[in-house]
Amino acid sequence: MRKPFVAGNWKMNMDLASSLALARELKGRVGERADVTLAVCPPFCYLKAVADVLAGSAVAVGGQNMYPEPKGAFTGELSAEMLLDVGCTYVILGHSERRHVMGEGDELINAKVLRALQAGLKPILCVGETIEQRKADRTGEVVTGQVRAALGGVSADQMARITIAYEPVWAIGTGLNATPQQAQEVHAMIRSLLADIHGRAVADLLVIQYGGSVKPDNAADLMTMPDVDGALVGGASLKANAFVPIIDACPGAA
Ligand code: PGA
Repeated sequence: MRKPFVAGNWKMNMDLASSLALARELKGRVGERADVTLAVCPPFCYLKAVADVLAGSAVAVGGQNMYPEPKGAFTGELSAEMLLDVGCTYVILGHSERRHVMGEGDELINAKVLRALQAGLKPILCVGETIEQRKADRTGEVVTGQVRAALGGVSADQMARITIAYEPVWAIGTGLNATPQQAQEVHAMIRSLLADIHGRAVADLLVIQYGGSVKPDNAADLMTMPDVDGALVGGASLKANAFVPIIDACPGAA
């Protein structure tokens, strides 16, 4: 039985006061939930403050990115150790904005996944196709390639600490979300790929989130799909009044 996992990706939004206010509100409204795994991923500069507010609650904290070296001359970057030091449990890796805006490739993302695991963080690995790739019927090939590349060298045991977020690039921040059937099709494909790589038992335990314009009014339909195990939420995670109903939409929750 997989527990649903809902994570909020705040991206480059919020300020200190609004971050603290949202963290306090989430702690009050969902801080005791045991039926859903919960996390928020604030901008780096607010991580420690948010983690302090959420300490002892059910809402974990994650970084939005990291660099795959423990320390050194990497101006502007942060290590896995630094994320752990300020209270992070998770780190989002391979987000499409990192891939497409910052030009990150599969090799770098793989290095980050391996380093995060080695340091003790839990990666949320994002994969997804562009609209051109979907129209060219290349979704399966693209997502398979991203998953295989990012998870190269990851052991079956380490897979228990990985979450995959399927986020079609054309659905992120656009208001265009994948239909529940489109999401299910790709999620099932990812799970069977993992079964090929690590066996059915590992694949059955893998939590696969859907991301891309998840909102309170579409969350329930997405999350009733058998291979959709929660959501990675951008825009709708910035307000408790949108984020909490998404959590409540998880099967078995509320
Ligand atoms: P969105 O972002 O919910 O605003 O589409 C999702 C994401 O990028 O993780």
